[in-house]
Amino acid sequence: LMTAGAAPREDAAATGGAAVPVGPAVQPFQVPLPLLPVLTPGATRGGADVYDITMRRTGAEILPGLSTDVLTYDGHFPGGIVRARSGRPVVMRQHNQLGVDTSVHLHGASVPVTSDGDPMNTFASGTSRTYTYPNQQPHASLWYHDHAHHSESENCYRGLSGSYLLTDDVEEALPLPAGRYDVTVALRDAHFDDDGQLLYILDDAAGRSTILANGKPYPYLQVAARKYRFRLLNSSNLRFFALRLADGSPFTQIGSDGGLLPRPFTTDALLLSPAERADVVIDFSRYPVGTRLVLENTLGPGDPDRTGKVMRFDVVRKAPDPSRVPSVLRTLPPLPPVTGRRSFDLNVAVVGGEPQGTINGRVYDPARIDTDIPYGASEVWTVTNTNTDVPHNFHMHLVQFRVLERNGKSPTGAEAGLKDTVCLLPGETVKLQATFDSYRGTYVYHCHLLDHSAMGMMARMRIR
Ligand code: C2O
Ligand code: CU
Repeated sequence: LMTAGAAPREDAAATGGAAVPVGPAVQPFQVPLPLLPVLTPGATRGGADVYDITMRRTGAEILPGLSTDVLTYDGHFPGGIVRARSGRPVVMRQHNQLGVDTSVHLHGASVPVTSDGDPMNTFASGTSRTYTYPNQQPHASLWYHDHAHHSESENCYRGLSGSYLLTDDVEEALPLPAGRYDVTVALRDAHFDDDGQLLYILDDAAGRSTILANGKPYPYLQVAARKYRFRLLNSSNLRFFALRLADGSPFTQIGSDGGLLPRPFTTDALLLSPAERADVVIDFSRYPVGTRLVLENTLGPGDPDRTGKVMRFDVVRKAPDPSRVPSVLRTLPPLPPVTGRRSFDLNVAVVGGEPQGTINGRVYDPARIDTDIPYGASEVWTVTNTNTDVPHNFHMHLVQFRVLERNGKSPTGAEAGLKDTVCLLPGETVKLQATFDSYRGTYVYHCHLLDHSAMGMMARMRIR
C-alpha cells in the first residue's frame, strides 16, 4: 500500500518479479516552465461561452528528445486553462477520440447532476458529450479531469486534467499580481520506462519518482524581481507535495480550493494533497537579479522523488510592481445553523490479496445511496483516516465546504477558506461543514488519491 515513506524502488512485486524500470535520469532545470495555453471559446451562444474540445491521444515531449504517449484535451499535456466568470455559463462539448470511455468532471464546481461527470455516466470513444457549467458560484481555481469509474486513475495519470479559473468582481477588484504575473502551475509525478513511456501501475507511489510542473520535469521560470501569484494544483494521483523555498523564506498563501482566503496566510511551508489547490504570492523583490531559487519538496526519507526539487525561479530582471496583497481578501458568509451530523471513516486494507478502499466499511457501489441529505441541509461531517500508515484525503462533489476542526483544533489560516478537498494524514480527523442548497441529485464523495478511489474508497450522497 501507498505510504508516505514508500517501498523501495526495486520492489518487483507489482510486475510479477520483473525489475521495474526506473526511467531515464533527468537533469533538473534544463527546460523552461511552459505556460499553459488559455483555451478560446469557439462560439458564444445565449450568453454562454462554448468550447469544442477533442479528447485524443498524442505524443508529448516530456523528457528531452523522447516522445511520450499521452491522453489529452485538445492535444495539450496537461490540459489548457478555461477562463470563466461567475454568472456566465460555460458549455464544454467534449469529443471523445481517446479509444477509451471517459467522463469529465469539473472539480470543485456546483453543477447539475447531468453535467457533473459522475463515474458511471461515461461516454464512449467516437461519441461526444456536452457539459454545461452554470458558474453560479464565487471565484475559484477549479480543474477538470477524467472520472470514468475504475479508469479515472489511469486516465488522469496519462494526461486528462486541465485548469478552469473562475473569476468574479470580488477577486478582480483586488490589486493582486495579474496578467503575466499570475501563473498556473500544475504539479504531478510520473513513472517512466526507459523509452520515456508512462508506466501505470496501481498504487505505484514508489515508482512515480519524476516530478513534472506543467508537463515538464523540474523546469525553471525566469521571473522579475517583484511579486508573482502562482496558482498551484496538485494533479498527482497519490503524491503529497510539502513545498518550501530553498532559502526557507516565507511566502503568502492567498487562496485555496474555493478561491481566496479571508486573509492572507504567511508561511514557509505548504502541504498539498492530491487535487488540492493553493494560490500563493512570492515576492522576488527581496532577491538580487541573478538569484536562482529552488522550490523544494521536503517529504521525509523514503520519499521516492529522486531530487527533492520541483522547479527553480531565476530572477533575471527588475520590474515595477504596482500589485499588493490586501490584509482582507474576501468575506465569507456566516455558517448556517447545523441541521445534521455524520461521520465517515476512510480505510484501505488488503482483503483476500486485493487492496480495497472503503468509506464506513463499504466499497463503492454505484447502485447504492450511502447518504440521504435533505435539500437545504447544512451538515457537520467528521471524517477520519483510520489507517495509521497511509495518507488519504476527502473530496465532495457539488459543494465547497468549510473546515471547522483538524484533530480537535482550529485549522490554520491555510484552511480558513472554502475547500472541496481536505488532507487526512494517517490517523487524522477533520470536521467540516457543508451546505446543500444548490442542486438536487446524486453525487459522489471520495478519497482523491485516485488509486484509492479506484479501489473503492468512494460513496454516493443524494440531495433531495
Ligand atoms: Cu476531482 Cu470526484 O473528483
Ligand atoms: Cu485514500
